[in-house]
Amino acid sequence: MAKLALRDLDVRGKRVLVRVDFNVPVELRGEVRITDDTRIRESLPTINYLRKHGAKTILMSHFGRPKGKRVEKYSLRPIGDYLHSLIHQPVIFSHDTIGKVPEKIIGHMENGDVALLENVRFQPEEETNDPKFSEALAKLGDLYVNDAFGTAHRAHASTAGITKFVTKSAMGLLMEKELKHLREGLDKPTKPFVVVLGGSKVSDKIGVLKALMEKADTILIGGAMANTFLKAQGIPVGASRVESDKVDLAHEILDLAKKRGVKFLLPIDALEAEEIRAGVPIRNTSRLSPQHGISDGWQAVDIGAATIALYQEELAKAETILWNGPVGIFEIPDFAEGTIAIAEALAQSGATTIIGGGDSVTAVKQAGLADKMTFISTGGGASLELLEGKELPGVAALTDKK
Ligand code: 3PG
Repeated sequence: MAKLALRDLDVRGKRVLVRVDFNVPVELRGEVRITDDTRIRESLPTINYLRKHGAKTILMSHFGRPKGKRVEKYSLRPIGDYLHSLIHQPVIFSHDTIGKVPEKIIGHMENGDVALLENVRFQPEEETNDPKFSEALAKLGDLYVNDAFGTAHRAHASTAGITKFVTKSAMGLLMEKELKHLREGLDKPTKPFVVVLGGSKVSDKIGVLKALMEKADTILIGGAMANTFLKAQGIPVGASRVESDKVDLAHEILDLAKKRGVKFLLPIDALEAEEIRAGVPIRNTSRLSPQHGISDGWQAVDIGAATIALYQEELAKAETILWNGPVGIFEIPDFAEGTIAIAEALAQSGATTIIGGGDSVTAVKQAGLADKMTFISTGGGASLELLEGKELPGVAALTDKK
């Protein structure tokens, strides 16, 4: 069912509660330094729309996982200061999330003003989706907008419960954009559709693998999850990270790919190291087979040169590419070559390229190639659940468009 969107609301003079995802990566060295402000910048279209249309904008977000307690390092105050510098307008900060303090602040707001409430996760009732807390939040506004795509897979008070206590709730502009690109990517991809899936665990990606198997022509596997598939094929994996209890599942997925006629490619060689640390000796394995696997005591840390060439060839043939998860331990520059090569292959492909959130987004940015991609999602877990075909609670709870 289609949902109400921000443009469907009459916001002038109204108190509009906007759930954003300001859960951004930061460095804590004395003061908070935001290391990637994408999520804040991506919220600006909604915030600026509301300012321009004379709404009183009240922003709410979580930040980190403070487990229902006030933890100063997870205060949203510095994020509010940062937003101030982006919109060139004061962001009124409420050090309480609900109750008298925000009520008083909001009572004094003029049309076009912007306020930010303290971290909703300082209250244990946020994650338990407590109706009383949802109601207390809802009391602060007239309308509700959910623009927090990155948190839309959580059924929390500020993402889902609150909608029961407001007259109208709608998708923000970022939420709309994310749903459009990710749904289209999966629903009607121009063929050939090639998927690159990496990351550490097969168990995290089963749902998405099965769903994509229905749509993709080719699936390229990398990251530590590849080790579980290699093991399932009888290839020694040395001391590599592997989910031994998921080997049967890996078999099942390999069989399913065969049945569906999907080209399911695993690394044919790897970069191996004895330790996961910068500066240690590394070497490329020979072609992987049951006779020649990863060496005893060594671990696969990236895809190898032959795999890079093979995957580049597949990506060059694609019309649509979806990428989720790095193919190596790219945080360590010595092990990043494969992941950077994938990012470059996407940038050069001429295909529609969709980056499904999380670490692959960081990799694309590190490679300086973000502006070469068609769409980069702000959601890690949320984009995976959407690609799996799951309903996102933060979207399902919004008002239906009649
Ligand atoms: C994220 O960063 O994935 C979202 O902000 C959700 O955060 P969470 O995993 O702590 O719920």
